Amino acid sequence: MDQLEEMHYFATPVYVVHKPEFIDMVRTVSMRYEEKSRERKKNPDYVNLMTGSYSHEPELQDFSQYVSQTAWNILASQGYNMDQLVTYFTEMWTQEHNHLSSMETHVHGAGCQISAFFFIDVPDKACKLVVHDPRPGKVIINLPEKDASNITLGSHQIVFTPQPGALILINAWVPHSFTKNMGNESMRFVHMNLSVAVNEEAKEEKSVEIL
Ligand SMILES: [Fe+2]
Repeated sequence: MDQLEEMHYFATPVYVVHKPEFIDMVRTVSMRYEEKSRERKKNPDYVNLMTGSYSHEPELQDFSQYVSQTAWNILASQGYNMDQLVTYFTEMWTQEHNHLSSMETHVHGAGCQISAFFFIDVPDKACKLVVHDPRPGKVIINLPEKDASNITLGSHQIVFTPQPGALILINAWVPHSFTKNMGNESMRFVHMNLSVAVNEEAKEEKSVEIL
């Protein structure tokens, strides 16, 4: 049989880096916000908890700076012209998932470019992060897979078992979901979304050069 030249375009990258050094810092701020959200819960046996956004908290500066810079680096490495753009958080909040809590498949619109997750508490049988095929045409006509446990060009989803301290980043157009927490302990992670804006300083510098 002829050997076909095979080319792969329009890849769906997922980026993972382990940063356990940020866990304590993030947990401290997260716990404050969890407490505030817990006070508003009418049922003490709630299934899940979403906090308010806390990307503005000065205590988190090192963490926020790291995630924001990493998001910028990713977009630049993907070939986008980031010369005059900066990344900024549109949201940074904690999700606490208790027994049987999960999250349906979704993407983040409204100008987001990068979505990120930082895992704080990952007990046994906790939710897994699922990344779904973002190509609607393929999803519609998908054939059954021969062995869904293999990652192939036919795969329609990839399942990640997060570790505490893992930071996972994806483009905001990548659909994602979380499976049910099958354990009895709470799972906690930070979900972040980042957008881009024109860096006015860089723009001014450039216009000075032109003059
Ligand atoms: Fe999300």
